[in-house]
Amino acid sequence: MTTAQEPNILDAELFPSEQGPPHHLFDRWRENDPVHWNPSNPDYLTRMPESSGVKSFWVLTRYKDVQDVSMNQDLFSSHEAGIVVWQVEGDALERQRANFMMMKPADHNAVKKVIMPPFMPKALAAIAPEIDRLAADIVKSVAGKGQCEFVFDVASRLPIYTFCELMGIPEHLRDQVADYGNALADVESRTEHSLNPMIGLFGLAQEIAEEKRRNPDDRLLSVMVNDTTLNLDPMQINQFVLVFAMAGHETTRSTAAHFIHLMHRHPDQYALLRSDFDAHIENAIDEVLRYTSTTTNFTRMAMADTEIGGCPIRKGDNIYLSYAAANRDPMVFEDPHRFDITRANAKRHLAFGVGPHVCIGARLAKMQLRALLKEVVTRIPDIHPVGEPEWLRSVWFNAIIRMPVEFTPEQVK
Ligand code: HEM
Repeated sequence: MTTAQEPNILDAELFPSEQGPPHHLFDRWRENDPVHWNPSNPDYLTRMPESSGVKSFWVLTRYKDVQDVSMNQDLFSSHEAGIVVWQVEGDALERQRANFMMMKPADHNAVKKVIMPPFMPKALAAIAPEIDRLAADIVKSVAGKGQCEFVFDVASRLPIYTFCELMGIPEHLRDQVADYGNALADVESRTEHSLNPMIGLFGLAQEIAEEKRRNPDDRLLSVMVNDTTLNLDPMQINQFVLVFAMAGHETTRSTAAHFIHLMHRHPDQYALLRSDFDAHIENAIDEVLRYTSTTTNFTRMAMADTEIGGCPIRKGDNIYLSYAAANRDPMVFEDPHRFDITRANAKRHLAFGVGPHVCIGARLAKMQLRALLKEVVTRIPDIHPVGEPEWLRSVWFNAIIRMPVEFTPEQVK
């Protein structure tokens, strides 16, 4: 059931004004209208490059529905109309379908096989000492100062370094790649005069791809560019860099910032974590992921007439998978709005998605978070935000973009 007074989930003010996803609204919908029709928002001024507006869609708030739809790529496609709330058509849609996350299932499988090895446990174990060393360096660079801006001085640096290393992006281009990735995620602040970050990123991607053709190495981008079985075209390579510049950085950075923010808000939980860091950290990271859901949603399109939870769905309807709402479903998570780092089933969260498109960087993200947070919690344990952090204005990401923090300076031994 939809009423004219219902808030529109595509209201760009909704998430920042709530300091995250609007859970009271999701709770109401999950209870009374779990497959909720959200019309396109005529007031929404689209800033997403190449998009013509925002989609209308069914919002899924129940864990089971989000999971079932995500698992069934034949019926609920990532390829047909893309995976984000913005509407893209014609040539622009064709270009976006070159993106790994939007490929036809057979192509997606083939590419996934080629790119998975560096994300598997054995390969990750090999880079773990380097991640630990970098995490220590990053925290050391601020630990003596007594204050810093946590998001960019601390949280951002490790994910940028890591995804650039994996991809084989040369050092002198890393900041630029990260800046373009940030600008792409920051859809709402863009003005019509802003440089289109997609064009900037594609230019860099082509430059790097050319270099990899001339001088191949063992990193992901080189493997992709030079793989003769896949024969990826330049747009597929561009889109590949775009996915990693966005997915590999902003999400991990935000989760680290949310972690510190939540520990400050829940001193009992922080005391528990500090009482035995190694015993609690894995579950604490999962609980922060569940509680915050930095990537709040992706979309799918129904490929045939069907139903979800008894609600009829027509071929061509868009579906909004609310990971944020699913992660607070009381059918799965007892007392879901309680933040509890000992929650027995925290790791069942859907913050990384589920099914054929589940996040391939999940293990890597957790490894980085663990390394970074260990340094922060053991070296500057009284870290706390100064004032309220600043939230990204977004209908997509639940992200803290600025969080000044203070702490007792570490004494140099
Ligand atoms: C806390 C950190 C992260 C979160 C919350 C997150 C979230 C997600 C989500 C929800 C999806 C599912 C997309 C869908 O179903 O359509 C996804 C996919 C993906 N993520 Fe992550 N991600 C994180 C970190 C990373 C990292 C570190 C990398 C790589 C370095 C990465 C690379 C990817 C890629 C390539 C996909 C596409 C998978 C596919 O379509 O098969 N992510 N991520």
